[in-house]
Amino acid sequence: MPSAKPAGMPRRQFLFTAAAGAAALGLGLPGLARAGQFKLPPLPWPQKALEPYISARTISFHYGKHHASYVNNLNRLIQGTPFAKLKLEEIIKASYGNNDAAFNNAAQVWNHTFYWQSMKPGGGGQPSGELAAKIKAGFGSMQACLDQLLKAAAARFGSGWAWLVVKDGRLVVVSSSNALNPLVEGMRPLLTVDVWEHAYYLDYQNRRADYLKAWAQHLVNWEFAAKNLGM
Ligand SMILES: [Fe+2]
Repeated sequence: MPSAKPAGMPRRQFLFTAAAGAAALGLGLPGLARAGQFKLPPLPWPQKALEPYISARTISFHYGKHHASYVNNLNRLIQGTPFAKLKLEEIIKASYGNNDAAFNNAAQVWNHTFYWQSMKPGGGGQPSGELAAKIKAGFGSMQACLDQLLKAAAARFGSGWAWLVVKDGRLVVVSSSNALNPLVEGMRPLLTVDVWEHAYYLDYQNRRADYLKAWAQHLVNWEFAAKNLGM
C-alpha cells in the first residue's frame, strides 16, 4: 500500500473482486503529467464518434461542462499553493485525505481523461495477445472479466467508477466512489467506466445497465488497456 493513504481514509470505498495477471509499465496520459496550469486535454475522437451508444449531446456536457469544470476548479484551487508545483498524479496522491477539494478535482481531471481513452468508436470485441492471456489467467475467461467489471459498475451505489487494474501484479476489478482513483491505493488502472449519472442520463436516463452493456459491446478500448499494461 502506498504511504499516501492516511489513516482517516479507509479502504471501504473500493470493492475488490477476482484477481490474477501480471505486472505493468507506463500509463499514457500525455499532457496531464506536468505541473502548473492544467488544460482540458482534447478528446481522442470527435464528439459524435460514439453515437448511437453515447450521444454527442452527452459528450458535449460531460466533456465540455463537467470535465472542463474540474480542470478550472483545480487550477483555481492550486494557485499559490504547494500543489501548483506538482504533476497531476502527485497532486492526487498528496491531497488524498487532507484536501478534499483539491483531491476531488485533480482525480476527476485524471479519471475523465482516462475514461475518454478507455472508449473508441468501433470498440468492444475481444482483447488480443498477452492482455487476453492475462485476462483469461486472471478471470477464467474474457466474459467473466467483463461480467465482473459490469457487475462492479452496476453495483456502485451513487456516483463513482469501475476499473480494471493491476494490483500487486495481478489483474483485478474494483469500483470506487465519487472521485476516488486506484492510484492512491497503489494500483495501476488499465480501463475505467464512469458511472456518475452525468455519463449516461441524457441517453439512458436511469438505465445504467443498458449504458454499461453498450459500453462493453461497442466502445471499450482494449488497445488502451494493453498499452497501460505495458504491451
Ligand atoms: Fe464523469
